[in-house]
Amino acid sequence: MVEQCFRKFGLIVILSALVFYLYIYGANETGTEIPKILEPFFVNTEGCRIIAMDVMNHQIEKFTNWEWKHPRFYLKCPKTTWFRTEMANGDWYLKLSRDIGEILKENKLTNDWQITCYWLNFKIRWRWHSKLTHRTRFYLEFPYVLKVPKGVKQLRLQCVETETNKTLYNDAHFFIQPPPEKLLRKAPPRLQFWDKIDERKTNMPPISVMILGMDSVSHLNFLRQMPKTAAYMRTNMSHVEFWGMNKIGVNTYPNLISLLTGLSTQEAYKLILKDKYMDRLPLIWKDFKKAGYNTSFGEDHARLSVFYFDQKGFENETTDHNLHDFMAELFLIRENSSLPLAYCVGERTFLDVLMEMTDRLLPHYQRYPFFSFYWWSNGLHEFFNAPRLMDDRFQRLLRSLDDSGVTNNTIIFFMSDHGLRWGKFRYTFQGMIEDSQPLLSVLYPKWMQNTFPQAIQNLHANAHSLVTTYDLHATLKHILDIDSLQDKSIRKMSEDLWELKGKKTPRAVSLFLPVPPWRSCNSSHIKRRFCLCHRQVSIPSTHRIAEQSAQFIVDSINKMLEEYAMCIPLQVDSILSAHVEVPERDFKKNYRIAGRHLNGRYRDRGPSVRTREYSDRDVIVRLKAKPMEAFFEGMTRKHGSAISLIGEIIRVGGGENNTNGCIANSKLEPFCHCGV
Ligand SMILES: *[C@@H]1O[C@H](CO)[C@@H](O)[C@H](O)[C@H]1NC(C)=O
Ligand SMILES: *[C@@H]1O[C@H](CO)[C@@H](O)[C@H](O)[C@H]1NC(C)=O
Ligand SMILES: *[C@@H]1O[C@H](CO)[C@@H](O)[C@H](O)[C@H]1NC(C)=O
Ligand SMILES: *[C@@H]1O[C@H](CO)[C@@H](O)[C@H](O)[C@H]1NC(C)=O
Ligand SMILES: *[C@@H]1O[C@H](CO)[C@@H](O)[C@H](O)[C@H]1NC(C)=O
Ligand SMILES: *[C@@H]1O[C@H](CO)[C@@H](O)[C@H](O)[C@H]1NC(C)=O
Ligand SMILES: *[C@@H]1O[C@H](CO)[C@@H](O)[C@H](O)[C@H]1NC(C)=O
Ligand SMILES: *[C@@H]1O[C@H](CO)[C@@H](O)[C@H](O)[C@H]1NC(C)=O
Repeated sequence: MVEQCFRKFGLIVILSALVFYLYIYGANETGTEIPKILEPFFVNTEGCRIIAMDVMNHQIEKFTNWEWKHPRFYLKCPKTTWFRTEMANGDWYLKLSRDIGEILKENKLTNDWQITCYWLNFKIRWRWHSKLTHRTRFYLEFPYVLKVPKGVKQLRLQCVETETNKTLYNDAHFFIQPPPEKLLRKAPPRLQFWDKIDERKTNMPPISVMILGMDSVSHLNFLRQMPKTAAYMRTNMSHVEFWGMNKIGVNTYPNLISLLTGLSTQEAYKLILKDKYMDRLPLIWKDFKKAGYNTSFGEDHARLSVFYFDQKGFENETTDHNLHDFMAELFLIRENSSLPLAYCVGERTFLDVLMEMTDRLLPHYQRYPFFSFYWWSNGLHEFFNAPRLMDDRFQRLLRSLDDSGVTNNTIIFFMSDHGLRWGKFRYTFQGMIEDSQPLLSVLYPKWMQNTFPQAIQNLHANAHSLVTTYDLHATLKHILDIDSLQDKSIRKMSEDLWELKGKKTPRAVSLFLPVPPWRSCNSSHIKRRFCLCHRQVSIPSTHRIAEQSAQFIVDSINKMLEEYAMCIPLQVDSILSAHVEVPERDFKKNYRIAGRHLNGRYRDRGPSVRTREYSDRDVIVRLKAKPMEAFFEGMTRKHGSAISLIGEIIRVGGGENNTNGCIANSKLEPFCHCGV
């Protein structure tokens, strides 16, 4: 009987069974809860092991505090907005939202006729040039309302001093028409295809897809900086947080191109060789369009756009709704906010303009299937604390999607492309690791748990698998074929998938299928320098760190047995083998690559941090103990000068003659050397 317990199980199997994903909540200085991570590994599978890291500790606090005390973190716009847009009876209006007296006073004028306003059409010509046409004059006069002509999708505003033509005000607005009257009457509980010709041979309700992305937010920085959003998500939404999301390329482009096309940068490049227009890419929203979905695309930063930064952009629009030209026009009349690389026009931040788009489309999302892709990057690119600016905004957004019923018919990919790539935090070891660990959380309609139990179970089971944006692309494809989310298909697809081993392991796996545990960075096409998985490197058993670890393991055994006086305390006899876990990547080489700044425009000044080597060490030791003559295996982690045990110690052999059942505790018995 006892023999069985002693058999050598793979350490990995044992450890993975021990990974309890627990959170302790502790309040931080702002009073919001930041979850603490207790598990030793984010991913612990046959092909990949990723060690867990802290959301917050003293080291990290240094980085959050100095920035946060700086006034720029209270994102402020320098000017005031004059007009807002409003819809009444199916028409859009521009309304003066500021007190006219105040405007006149500010500009040292006395009468409203001294100000002339125009609205204009604009067309973005070659990048960052726009042509303004159809200049239409309107006076600023009571009741200060302008009806926007039907069919106008966007316009530019200019107000000048009538006498001198001196510019007083610039702005731009977009208008999204409501769904047609007949669709408006009542939001149906399930989505209807726009053309109502539902040719699909399925009675499964269609599911919309929404990608809500933020630039440069690692999973841990999301938890650190956006506690309200995280709490809302965790308590109010059916969702899965992915702990093994690994970026595949250095910056936004490779990570998002793989998400949207399933291709690597090189593969995508071959398809646009002809004229470099990005329209030529097989963007996933084209597939959704073909399937009858309406589509929408918006980025809050036209210049840092995935399709326009260092790329040629689109020749033709590829989505039904497209905010790019509008954001480019706003970019041209931008004003600096208090935060570098975050812009405003009037008192509207660009972050909020994109929020406005998601908001304006709500009545559409409620009624027919939609694929939408939204990406926020204003201000997020360079600052460790910048995601805090997004916390209230995203909590509000998630809540409004919830309240309007949109989350009942939409799968939301709440995500980022990579972690922070610049600055002082990036210089640290954890900063380097987090760079490769973008946020990914999949929020799904609750009813899917009943309709597609196996698929949703797999989604949850993959929370601790190594995953990439290639997998997300496969997941999007999977959603298009909704029937294949049913148990029968899932079982068949899973069986087929698990046949593929070794070199045949596919690069992309839908997250509704069980990601094979043997998957590795190599089989997922994650470049080695971004790979978060660890490998074991043998160290001499005489190494100080091996000796420390062995001693700690034996001390831990003795401590467990403290209460049992009949068990004779053990000592280290010899160390048979020792391994350290090191990141797959060569971290020393990559240690110093961070810290350049976007066009050298902003220098991030923090407390000086001594660049230090990775001091955390996970050590796996096999040892022989005396006087028991038994062999044990265990793993310790050294963090600074503190050392702790990871997982359980196992006895892997020997000592059979000494454990003669002198204690009645089957768990501890294997460790007890019974005295006479
Ligand atoms: C102001 O601009 C308008 C339109 O471009 C032009 O007709 C007018 O002559 C200008 N007035 C002055 C004082 O420059
Ligand atoms: C949510 O969607 C499901 C499937 O379309 C539908 O059966 C259910 O009535 C909806 N629930 C609500 C509250 O709208
Ligand atoms: C979120 O969930 C909590 C607990 O389940 C509940 O009390 C609260 O009302 C929910 N909030 C919203 C906005 O649904
Ligand atoms: C949605 O798509 C349909 C079919 O392509 C199109 O006719 C319709 O105008 C689209 N709706 C909107 C609001 O763009
Ligand atoms: C854009 O549309 C025009 C006219 O339909 C077409 O000739 C051209 O090839 C399109 N461009 C791309 C990149 O698809
Ligand atoms: C905005 O900030 C940039 C970079 O700091 C600076 O070059 C530019 O002059 C600023 N623009 C305005 C209008 O202050
Ligand atoms: C990595 O993957 C490639 C192709 O998928 C394969 O040819 C190669 O043998 C793999 N390398 C290792 C070390 O597994
Ligand atoms: C245990 O005892 C048996 C019988 O006395 C002996 O043959 C065997 O060698 C002992 N095993 C060890 C590991 O000492």
